Amino acid sequence: MTVLTVSTTPFDDQKPGTSGLRKKVRVFQQPHYLENFVQAIFDTQPDLKGGMLVLGGDGRYYNREAIQIILRMAAANGVESVMVGKGGILSTPAASHLIRHFEAQGGIILSASHNPGGPDEDFGIKFNTPNGGPAPEKVTEAIHARTKTLSQYLILNGEEVDIDSPQQFQLGNMGVDVFDSVYAYAELMQELFDFDRIRNFFDSTHFRMRFDAMHAVTGPYARYILEELLGAPPGSVINAEPKPDFGGHHPDPNLAHAQELVAMTQGARGVDFAAASDGDGDRNMILGHDFFVTPSDSLAVMAANATLIPAFNGGISGVARSMPTSQAVDRVADMLEVPCFETPTGWKFFGNLLDAGEISLCGEESFGTGSNHVREKDGLWAVLFWLNLLAVKGQSVADIVRAHWRKYGRNYYTRHDYEGIDKAAADKLMKQLKEGLGSLVGDEFNGHRVSYADDFAYTDPVDGSVSKNQGIRIGFKDGSRIIFRLSGTGTEGATLRVYLESLEPDPAKHNQDTQAVMRPLIELAEMLANIKGITGRDAPTVIT
Ligand code: G1P
Ligand code: ZN
Repeated sequence: MTVLTVSTTPFDDQKPGTSGLRKKVRVFQQPHYLENFVQAIFDTQPDLKGGMLVLGGDGRYYNREAIQIILRMAAANGVESVMVGKGGILSTPAASHLIRHFEAQGGIILSASHNPGGPDEDFGIKFNTPNGGPAPEKVTEAIHARTKTLSQYLILNGEEVDIDSPQQFQLGNMGVDVFDSVYAYAELMQELFDFDRIRNFFDSTHFRMRFDAMHAVTGPYARYILEELLGAPPGSVINAEPKPDFGGHHPDPNLAHAQELVAMTQGARGVDFAAASDGDGDRNMILGHDFFVTPSDSLAVMAANATLIPAFNGGISGVARSMPTSQAVDRVADMLEVPCFETPTGWKFFGNLLDAGEISLCGEESFGTGSNHVREKDGLWAVLFWLNLLAVKGQSVADIVRAHWRKYGRNYYTRHDYEGIDKAAADKLMKQLKEGLGSLVGDEFNGHRVSYADDFAYTDPVDGSVSKNQGIRIGFKDGSRIIFRLSGTGTEGATLRVYLESLEPDPAKHNQDTQAVMRPLIELAEMLANIKGITGRDAPTVIT
């Protein structure tokens, strides 16, 4: 086998977004497009030469082809060994675990997360550093800079290799270990949670649950852990078979895209507990019987009850939430007297805090929760946390959350997305908002007085790096907030996200409809940003 040096020219659109480089499959299929980005990773991460790489993806369309290309490029670039997921599949949290467990020099994860898959849909690639987490901005910036200057890439001239059966073989001078990560991941979960207690709880209460894998990567992990190890009845895991197009759906666990699952929790025959995960297994949605737990509440409930879980029986060091996530967890941290950090959107900002031991738990409103066990958010981990909690408390999901609200107050929370809007209009809207921020403080709107209005910037307390332009925050004296941001994961046009929250301390007012409670704030957001005037849209496309 020979190493080929292939001449190439830079692409001008390889800047990673909130979570890696995401584009339409057809963009990635252009000659040299994937290769250029991968070469930029090897050129900027010298430790990979002579080191170990973890490689896998969420199984979406083009995953297999990309794995073959990356394996041959890794061999040509002097990587010593690659751990590749069986069938080219690794969930994002499992990949993070493997990088840490085997002390690899990094990982390449192929995923566009919750975005749809298929020949006309999305694909993505991201690099994770040796701590197991998504590359921080200084690394993604270096990779991006390299994509603008490179003129060649290296690839081994050779045949496709078999990635479907667990085995070890040589590819050129590089060792390849095809590995089924389900067992290693399950072992980690058994160290963190009380499996015996959950199993007994299932047995003794005839607990009924559903886990919707949405035809994405978590199916095999969930089947093994929930049905085989914990004894949930067969059929508790639905849509368990991973498919390259996720069965034609958005593999996004929220009220809009997991309607089949939501219906299973409703009415007299509704199950006690339901959960779903996304394309690459890092997101989660938690439901009880006739009850939806917002991701922000889920994080707050976890923090408040952490010591009931074996992994945290010694307490938690601190918590972090992304800026748009509700402030429910802040009040728990206050009560526990541990620090609470507000970071920009995207999991990469939690890495330093976790590595430094500053925090034990973290989360985002976008259906992401996780802990110091890996450096990615982790869908099944969140499900097991809730199951362990239910087993210990012996209460329903709704009762646990309602009791939490009584103690801490309820943060009504909603996110309104305006998808596929014109990019220029989105930029104009954000620009006008920024220009008006200075004059807002002190103004009063429908009884809400503005106490701060800014363009969020973050200084990492561990390495001092500064991230600017992370979204517009308008905070009111009564604790409510309106946040505006543009998505950094889309592949078409722009998506405006409007995040709204308001705090209700009075338990007598905890059972209202969220959209009704938020109506005045929603109208205020529309007015402040002139959404209809600038984008032409008079309603969001997705509400979560
Ligand atoms: C979205 C979410 C963000 C999450 C990211 C990756 O990014 O909002 O919280 O970390 O997906 O799952 P966005 O499209 O808003 O940039
Ligand atoms: Zn994801």
